[in-house]
Amino acid sequence: MNLLEIIQTRRSVRKYQPTEVEQEKLDYILECARLAPSAVNFQPWQFYIVKSQEAKENLFECYHNKWFSTNPAPVFIIACGDKNASWKRKSDSKDHLDIDIAIAFEHICLAATEQGLGTCWVCNFDMEKVVSFLGLPENMIPVAITPLGYPEVEEVKKTPRKEKEEICMVI
Ligand SMILES: Cc1cc2nc3c(=O)[nH]c(=O)nc-3n(C[C@H](O)[C@H](O)[C@H](O)COP(=O)(O)O)c2cc1C
Repeated sequence: MNLLEIIQTRRSVRKYQPTEVEQEKLDYILECARLAPSAVNFQPWQFYIVKSQEAKENLFECYHNKWFSTNPAPVFIIACGDKNASWKRKSDSKDHLDIDIAIAFEHICLAATEQGLGTCWVCNFDMEKVVSFLGLPENMIPVAITPLGYPEVEEVKKTPRKEKEEICMVI
């Protein structure tokens, strides 16, 4: 698949097969995250790979949406950002932490698609619960979570997008 085909194929997958994710595929996906660009190349991220049943049970308590724990993925990735390590723009102190994490996280999603795996961005989790479950220090913020696994084979609904003319202005 070329990049456009990977982007066209990616969907939010909310139902998974229990089949394990091969270690080589997981390594490949994490390498794609590691190589992501970041402001001033500060790389203010850490990725928690949730594999054990005990850790998954804890994670399910952090996001009470039925799909998350029904037909769950065999692996989950939690992307966290270090507030002390991110670039803040001098002129207005804007923190670029979320942008950096989002780029790396979408690398994960696209790499997973290329490998035949599904993902789903999850940000609507209970922040306090994730912090306590991972035992994060004050400077570390959980930004996004995704399940990772082989999609349960069923037609995943295609979501609409705005037309190019609505979103692009040539000036
Ligand atoms: C920043 C962000 C946060 C999201 N948070 C959630 C979430 O908490 N729960 C969920 O089920 N989907 C979540 N999504 C998935 C979106 O609903 C989904 O990407 C969007 O509807 C487009 O569908 P598609 O991913 O299948 O193309 C999130 C997506 C993004 C980019």
